[in-house]
Amino acid sequence: MTERGAASSINLPGDFVERIRSARAVVVFTGAGISAESGVPTYRGGGGTITWRGLAPAELSSPRLLRSDPRMFWDWFLFRRGFLSTVEPNPGHCSIAQWEDRFKSFLLVTQNVDGLHAKAGSRSMVELHGNIWRNRCQSCNEAIADLADDPATTLPYCPCGGLIRPDVVLFGETLPARAWRSACEAAMTCDLFITIGTSAAVYPAAELPMIARRGGALMIEVNPEETDLSALSDVSLRGKAGEILPELSRSLFEGE
Ligand code: OAD
Repeated sequence: MTERGAASSINLPGDFVERIRSARAVVVFTGAGISAESGVPTYRGGGGTITWRGLAPAELSSPRLLRSDPRMFWDWFLFRRGFLSTVEPNPGHCSIAQWEDRFKSFLLVTQNVDGLHAKAGSRSMVELHGNIWRNRCQSCNEAIADLADDPATTLPYCPCGGLIRPDVVLFGETLPARAWRSACEAAMTCDLFITIGTSAAVYPAAELPMIARRGGALMIEVNPEETDLSALSDVSLRGKAGEILPELSRSLFEGE
């Protein structure tokens, strides 16, 4: 059954509250939409999509730009870091962080690199596309906690000679193997899968809801717009995550 509720209000069919409350293994899968109300532009749709120096994210966060113009590549990521340092988690991030202790098993799988889930207090988390605040060596892959040089003025290099880069997955790169394995295992074995703020247009991340569906999980989507996942979902809650998720928390856990 697919229930497409009215905008910005929770419309859960009869026994769903109890089915959600009694879920034992929960996966929450988020995309750019969860950070939209923090002021972070999404990648697709909604008019909030980002460009920089006239280029789209797919051209900027690309192995090609990293190779051909590492200075511009770093400037793009410094611009993003500068912007992201000014934003805060919103009530959507905070609700998800609170759910973590409510279920026997819980994993947050995010496609976002902005670090806002961790800032909101989420700990049981897999960052499928990396984290913009971390750095690693492009050659030896070593994580680099402190940069000897300021990347705004000097391109940073690893002792091995490789260029240091932000630890994010660029368009066309493969996902970090361990993160992907953990996400797949959790999706395969969960009994509740909640998708929030993703167009589910980017693979392989977008396979996760299908894996969960095949495993028999109850599927809930939170998104103001219809997506390819809507037809796969038992319930689609139409509205903004920052409004829907606190409301969902109240319906589920108030009075405990
Ligand atoms: P998209 O930009 O593709 O999709 C954002 C989704 O969020 C859309 O479906 C919107 O309808 C929805 N949305 C907008 N505002 C919302 C709100 N307030 N509450 C809830 N939902 C809202 O972002 P992703 O699906 O995350 O990858 O994109 C996936 C990947 O594409 C990104 O991780 C990035 C990009 O290429 C890499 O950089 C590797």
